[in-house]
Amino acid sequence: MTFQEQIRAGIPMKLPSVKNYDTAINHAPKRKEILSKAEKELAIRNALRYFNKEYHEILAKEFAKELKDFGRIYMYRFRPDYKMYARPVHEYPGKSMQTKAVMHMIQNNLDTEVAQHPHELITYGGNGAVFQNWAQYLLAMQYLAEMTDEQTLVMYSGHPMGIFPSHSNAPRVVITNGMMIPNYSKQDDYEKFNALGVTQYGQMTAGSYMYIGPQGIVHGTTITVLNAGRKIAKRGEDLAGKLFLTSGLGGMSGAQPKAGNIAGCITVCAEVNPKITDIRLSQGWIDEKYTDLDLLVERVRMAKKNKEVVSLAFLGNIVSVWEKFDEENVYVDLGSDQTSLHNPWAGGYYPVGISFDKANEMMAENPIKFKEKVQESLRRQTVAINRHTAKGTYFFDYGNAFLLEAGRAGADIMAENGIDFKYPSYVQDIMGPMCFDYGFGPFRWVCTSASPDDLEKTDALACNVLETIMKNSPQEIQQQMADNIQWIKGAQENKLVVGSQARILYADAEGRAKIAEAFNNAVKRGELTAPVVLGRDHHDVSGTDSPFRETSNIYDGSQFTADMAIQNVIGDSFRGATWVSIHNGGGVGWGEVINGGFGMVLDGSIEAEKRLKSMLFWDVNNGIARRNWARNQGATFAIKRAMEVEPKLKVTLPNLVDDSLLQGLF
Ligand SMILES: NC(=O)c1ccc[n+]([C@@H]2O[C@H](COP(=O)([O-])OP(=O)(O)OC[C@H]3O[C@@H](n4cnc5c(N)ncnc54)[C@H](O)[C@@H]3O)[C@@H](O)[C@H]2O)c1
Repeated sequence: MTFQEQIRAGIPMKLPSVKNYDTAINHAPKRKEILSKAEKELAIRNALRYFNKEYHEILAKEFAKELKDFGRIYMYRFRPDYKMYARPVHEYPGKSMQTKAVMHMIQNNLDTEVAQHPHELITYGGNGAVFQNWAQYLLAMQYLAEMTDEQTLVMYSGHPMGIFPSHSNAPRVVITNGMMIPNYSKQDDYEKFNALGVTQYGQMTAGSYMYIGPQGIVHGTTITVLNAGRKIAKRGEDLAGKLFLTSGLGGMSGAQPKAGNIAGCITVCAEVNPKITDIRLSQGWIDEKYTDLDLLVERVRMAKKNKEVVSLAFLGNIVSVWEKFDEENVYVDLGSDQTSLHNPWAGGYYPVGISFDKANEMMAENPIKFKEKVQESLRRQTVAINRHTAKGTYFFDYGNAFLLEAGRAGADIMAENGIDFKYPSYVQDIMGPMCFDYGFGPFRWVCTSASPDDLEKTDALACNVLETIMKNSPQEIQQQMADNIQWIKGAQENKLVVGSQARILYADAEGRAKIAEAFNNAVKRGELTAPVVLGRDHHDVSGTDSPFRETSNIYDGSQFTADMAIQNVIGDSFRGATWVSIHNGGGVGWGEVINGGFGMVLDGSIEAEKRLKSMLFWDVNNGIARRNWARNQGATFAIKRAMEVEPKLKVTLPNLVDDSLLQGLF
């Protein structure tokens, strides 16, 4: 069967042969056993719903074994034989250019070069799933190939519920991931309901088909490291010769060394997983690898002396590096952590003092002991970090729930008031006040032609738009504009593409709409050979309510509400998004965040132009309006500007209170 025929066939009528477990591929760790006997039976009954009765006997046994061996039913046998990657959009079968573009994005999220655990359908973050199992993938692709622009595909946590009649201006796909009744949103609820096959953790861009490889985060990380460098600069000097110590070379964290190189510092990044470390080395995302701490110390001293721009991986535990650098008095200028602490008990964080393999075994066989080890390790890590910060290190939480989990582990991480943490999150200090409040966020696009030439043309178009806007930009956003122009100019040279032909840059509402319009016109003129997909990371101005990350610089109490994210996805859906998604979890963990995103296909049509103008304006200004209401001054500045440009916008502005009036009231 050709590729197109296989897609159209969906779940095969005849059982495909059993697949060997490919040990060359990076696999998800075994998930802990959480289901009772009756629940295991329910999980099998649930899984068999996708298949003809005649195969139930064989598959029941096979799925029971998967559940026992891996803690989940992935239906490995049904993983397709064709190569998984984002093909040029015209190679997909279908009646709608929009749905073909969605297929391009889905296959990118599952590409073996891109995804963290491709055979378990996990794109990044340890458990960020596109689908729960291969039957869901096959069925979703089949639906996308047969539906028209008068229908909408409804996705329940990876399960394609079906295609429903709608209309051409409606989203083609509506995705919900991990939506729970709030009382059922604890970590173990995720383990249980995911094992039952009724929910999944969509992370942010995994379950919304919008992942673009580590590039997505390289940019945000570059901005963060650059601005953290500006914060610690004594006399406006740059980061030359300064040391950035962090951890994780995974899906997102792997971007740190590259960002460190672009920002111009020395980066040391610890990673416990040998496979992942070697992948990053072979991809050129890290310059050198060390397994010996003494050699690492020596190398760092030399790099400092010569003010080298270099990134060094340490294959081992981050706790050992913090401790060693303290003993050896290696001064760390910037410190952070990007282990997957949103998922601390199932492979997100490896405790110090236990080998990688032993830890993988322990988390499945003895989860209680494993949890103790993780918490002990977090306490030790915090002690070492505290010693460094006492010497002057600027440490920030990098959105991985480090402070939250260290706090829960009883580490010495709380501020004196007992409410706040000792250290800021990067959103509180950097990303929030400098970017989000002004509407700057991780806007991205993908050339569905899969052509590097198209990507180069879009880079030039975007750069031109930003340079034109910058001429009349207010002082408040000049630095942002300049950083992004510099980024886009260096993007080709920095070879950031892994997977689809994608690009990211930070832009505000005006920048996003104008760049999108320029792309749509270029598709119309035939300068770009196929439509462009617009999207963004959920980690943005409006899409995400997350009190320990995206909305950690909201101080009016509303950081624990999720109205903004829900309003955003509803608003995007009726203003022209091609697909929308809303997730529980993502970044900091299940139950800790609600986040949403969109995809929009620019096919060069007048309809696409109308949609982009309407939707992008809302998609940014919704969050600015809310940030303004929370009394964030940058946001009030930005929303007033937006109201001047768009007379139909009228946002409620806060009256500021003289705090002296509050003294003595209670
Ligand atoms: N700040 C942001 O913008 C942002 C964006 C995306 C993700 N995140 C968060 O950052 C975290 C990492 O994301 P990811 O996609 O890279 O996850 P990942 O699971 O792919 O990578 C984390 C890596 O850390 C390694 N690791 C775990 N414990 C370790 C230890 N003690 N010492 C050394 N290495 C260790 C793991 O082996 C893994 O490779 C997640 O919690 C994610 O939610 C932050």
